[in-house]
Amino acid sequence: MKINIAIDGPSAAGKSTIADILAERLGYTHLDTGAMYRAVAYDAFRKQIPLDDENRIVSMIEAMDLQMLPDGRVILDGEDVSDEIRTNEVSMGASDVSKLEGCRKALVAMQQKICEEGGYILDGRDIGTVVLKDAPVKIYLTASAEARAQRRVLQNQEKGLEADYEQILEDIRKRDYQDMHREFSPLTKAEDAIEIDTSDLNLEEVTDLVLKIIAEKTGD
Ligand code: DC
Repeated sequence: MKINIAIDGPSAAGKSTIADILAERLGYTHLDTGAMYRAVAYDAFRKQIPLDDENRIVSMIEAMDLQMLPDGRVILDGEDVSDEIRTNEVSMGASDVSKLEGCRKALVAMQQKICEEGGYILDGRDIGTVVLKDAPVKIYLTASAEARAQRRVLQNQEKGLEADYEQILEDIRKRDYQDMHREFSPLTKAEDAIEIDTSDLNLEEVTDLVLKIIAEKTGD
């Protein structure tokens, strides 16, 4: 039987990349929950809804047609917004809407529904603590803010997006603070999560470590 796997940690710690590799190796599906908060922020910008207007944001979420495809594409009201939700502006906006209790409740319910049959790797901030409290495997990925900013610069350059190191570092620090200090489900390591600091590890090393943890927990 396929289980669900929880991966949490601060922004740009490599959660999505690792989740993609694991999904491929294990035959699981990766659900990027951060992309869902990003889609909400993007939709709010588009509809000019203030990001702190909880009632309007919640109504907007109820009306929105959000499809998280197994290949990672994000389809909002029939339009592929996978690239549009990756800008710095949408990153900060996602952190802003993620503070709203109503927004979190709506998205957590969607996430739990998507993965109810197992076989999913979810990455986010509250997966091990809220969304998949009973997940048999919980990983908490961290890295220094500098290492994360450096990686994001490279990623953005590859995608032809904004790639100013100082700006990205400042945004990462600001988002860390917001995500860790918000009132509802702040980013925190679940008691039973295994923490991996990836600052001095390459992708292969992190993947091997996580696969080992999964094998130990599941016997696979
Ligand atoms: O993982 P990401 O950088 O794409 O996430 C964007 C924002 O969404 C992040 O700043 C915090 C929020 N988020 C959250 O609160 N809970 C999640 N499970 C995933 C993301």
